[in-house]
Amino acid sequence: KILILDFGSQYTQLIARRIREIGVYCEIHPYDCDERFIGEYQPRGVILSGGPETVTQADTPRAPASVFDLNVPVLGICYGMQTMAEQLGGRVDACTHCEFGYAQIRAHGHSRLLSDIEDHATPEGYGLLDVWMSHGDQVTALPPGFKLIASTESAPIAGMADDVRGFYGLQFHPEVTHTRQGKRILERFLKDICGCETLWTPRNIIEDSLQAIRAKVENDRVILGLSGGVDSSVVGALLHKAIGDRLTCVFVDTGLLRLNEGDQVMTTFAQHMGIQVIRINAENRFLQALEGVSDPEQKRKIIGRLFVEIFDEEAGKITDARWLAQGTIYPDVIESAGSKTGKAQVIKSHHNVGGLPEEMNLKLVEPLRELFKDEVRQIGLELGLPYEMVYRHPFPGPGLGVRILGEVKKEYAELLRRADAIFIDELRRHELYDKVSQAFAVFLPVKSVGVMGDGRRYDFVVALRAVETVDFMTARWAHLPYDFLDLVSRRIINEVPGISRVTYDISGKPPATIEWE
Ligand code: XMP
Repeated sequence: KILILDFGSQYTQLIARRIREIGVYCEIHPYDCDERFIGEYQPRGVILSGGPETVTQADTPRAPASVFDLNVPVLGICYGMQTMAEQLGGRVDACTHCEFGYAQIRAHGHSRLLSDIEDHATPEGYGLLDVWMSHGDQVTALPPGFKLIASTESAPIAGMADDVRGFYGLQFHPEVTHTRQGKRILERFLKDICGCETLWTPRNIIEDSLQAIRAKVENDRVILGLSGGVDSSVVGALLHKAIGDRLTCVFVDTGLLRLNEGDQVMTTFAQHMGIQVIRINAENRFLQALEGVSDPEQKRKIIGRLFVEIFDEEAGKITDARWLAQGTIYPDVIESAGSKTGKAQVIKSHHNVGGLPEEMNLKLVEPLRELFKDEVRQIGLELGLPYEMVYRHPFPGPGLGVRILGEVKKEYAELLRRADAIFIDELRRHELYDKVSQAFAVFLPVKSVGVMGDGRRYDFVVALRAVETVDFMTARWAHLPYDFLDLVSRRIINEVPGISRVTYDISGKPPATIEWE
């Protein structure tokens, strides 16, 4: 396994994901974590991430000195290279020319890291690599024992190597896909230099988690709140495989779910997988609690509180349960650790519905705590969950409660569900569903005039929203084909009496959020 020490780069999580994609387990820890921990972790290799600071100042982050005494290879990327150079006796200065974005580097001589890796060969016999750079400082003198392995026009030392100790520094970012040979370079480091085997595969991840779950919960009963979302579904499938019918799932149907969603959850889990699922039909309680409330924040709070209340009531009836399972995943763990230590920037503050019944004294089991979303999806497929469920777009905890603007009414929810189902159905039929990151319909409680045949219509409006995004922090509206939008609009107006106008949301985030409320 590999240890990544985080200096606060935007790309740290990406380094970890790439390494795991290659099949090697790794963890991210802050650069100033306890040195004892580093020893106990026993990494096969260490990666020092990039970061926003500058080593040209004295009080900025440095790698723990012990990292260089572990007798394992170390790869410094960007800031990681600079701090390595500075700490081992080289020199770093501010660049006169900052480099951001695409660059071409020239590979020099022989090194275990870069030899024979190139995008273009030159007549002079050296290789060129297309890479992604972003830095304001650069190494200006190599530390003793190091040789030059890469340079660019403006950064004469863009890569350095000490093959004997296995220390390497790269000024560019091998973890981003713009660095075309990045994966090969990382593979070289992990497999050839650190000697890691590629054992981190979905099947092995599942085997390891099954053992870990069994060892942890022994013969106790576990409760899981099932929402139909990817994470809780995968936890459900995993726990069922680990402990069989000692898993009890509670599924609170808020009445604010998508068309037939509640039935689908029951079919997949209870019918197909034989998991014990208690379905609570709580639509009326939610609608009552939301009556007369139109403020978005208030609606969110009411839905969240009621959800916890109902979940607790049901969970409390399962008196022999000792554990509560949760679908926490690795980015949540890194982000909450990051916000405590102030290292990684908080990327998204989650507003999830659900909570821990405190007075019940349940212990937590979180089998996905070490996994990235793509890994969760892969093991979900491996566990036999349907592709459509595993790759479903995200759905907010408060559900249609935040997609019906203003006061929530049963009638509105039913209209919205039907319109949304048509939109999603057509996206799938036109193979556009997987091309957008999230798509849904929003119910606008305003009426507009229309004409149908000879009659006048005075009905509600639905807005369609589809976005493309990587991290859901920023998003661009999806440029869906006009013909496609035309078809969806006509189907909705013809098939959903009560809706006479369809609009398409062409706002980006920022400033418009993805959800309307
Ligand atoms: P916004 O609307 O903030 O949404 O641009 C970003 C992403 O988060 C989802 N979202 C939520 N997810 N509970 C959730 O679990 C919530 O309360 C919630 N609100 C928004 C939204 O669907 C989008 O994917």
